[in-house]
Amino acid sequence: MGEKLHRILEERQGAFFSGEAIAGRLGISRAAVWKRVAALRREGYVIEGARGAGYRLMEAPDRLTEKELRARLRKGGPWNALTFLDVTDSTNSRAMEMAENGAPHGTVVAADAQTGGRGRLGRRWESPAGKNVYVSILLRPDLAPAQAPRLSLVAGVALADAVEGMGVQPTLKWPNDLYLGDRKAAGILAEMASDPDRLRHVVIGVGINVNMGADDFPPEISGKATSLRIRAGSPFPRSEVLARFLDAFAGRYGEFLEGGFAALHDGWDRRDFLRGRRVLLRRRGGGEWGVAEGVDMDGALRFRPDGAAAVEAVHSGEILEFQR
Ligand code: BTN
Repeated sequence: MGEKLHRILEERQGAFFSGEAIAGRLGISRAAVWKRVAALRREGYVIEGARGAGYRLMEAPDRLTEKELRARLRKGGPWNALTFLDVTDSTNSRAMEMAENGAPHGTVVAADAQTGGRGRLGRRWESPAGKNVYVSILLRPDLAPAQAPRLSLVAGVALADAVEGMGVQPTLKWPNDLYLGDRKAAGILAEMASDPDRLRHVVIGVGINVNMGADDFPPEISGKATSLRIRAGSPFPRSEVLARFLDAFAGRYGEFLEGGFAALHDGWDRRDFLRGRRVLLRRRGGGEWGVAEGVDMDGALRFRPDGAAAVEAVHSGEILEFQR
């Protein structure tokens, strides 16, 4: 196929282009131009048509493509193998499969939509098309299996760096959530395969609510979830969000390998959502109320159970509830 109609309209930057001129450029009839305009409208392009003036592009759909991403990624990063899918059940499942089949460290799998997006604790992750970022990255670090959970904290700090870089102030809720105000806007699901003393691979899956509108969330989570767009009042190009996250992750991962979580501690600490709040912590199968007193140099939650004098370092657990 030769030139694309949407490219021709984009070039005009919102100015009208006559149907006749477009037909000439594309070497097709005016009726065929009309048909292509109709097809683009079905894909989400907003194109105004005016008798005598022609067509002009008012709004293009936000596409998440490898080309758009590569144009934005910092050169020389570790992200060489990029896979983009229109739809898949779960990018984490794809990346885990690819890992078993020998895919290299730094493989990235992103999808426009997921039919079985997975959250932590067996929850589902809302994954409609055209709105958000769903991405999984495959890592093959030389670390002990016990170190693996730290990698999702590293991803959290990188995610916060990326969001902050776009002018929105986030906080981080231990262990794996990004908050905007008092609502969740992104979550992280880390999965791994390991031998007794060595990690084989880790997949870090990240779901970022980028351009969801308030009505796009199902009722069960609409009071708890938000998006960058809702918070900032304007949409964000998804490829920009993803490129910023991948760049930030590459940098933070390097810091972590050199200095452990301590090297990133400040990036977490100054954005700590839970500090000083009463929380219901789930660990070892049970729930316990207490106060979150920050995150230590190892990435553990400092937790003071109700009625206890001492603070405990919690390395793995989930916060089921918190006081607002
Ligand atoms: C959570 O907060 O519960 C974690 C959500 C993780 C969602 C992402 S979307 C990309 C990747 N693929 C999945 O199936 N899950 C993660």
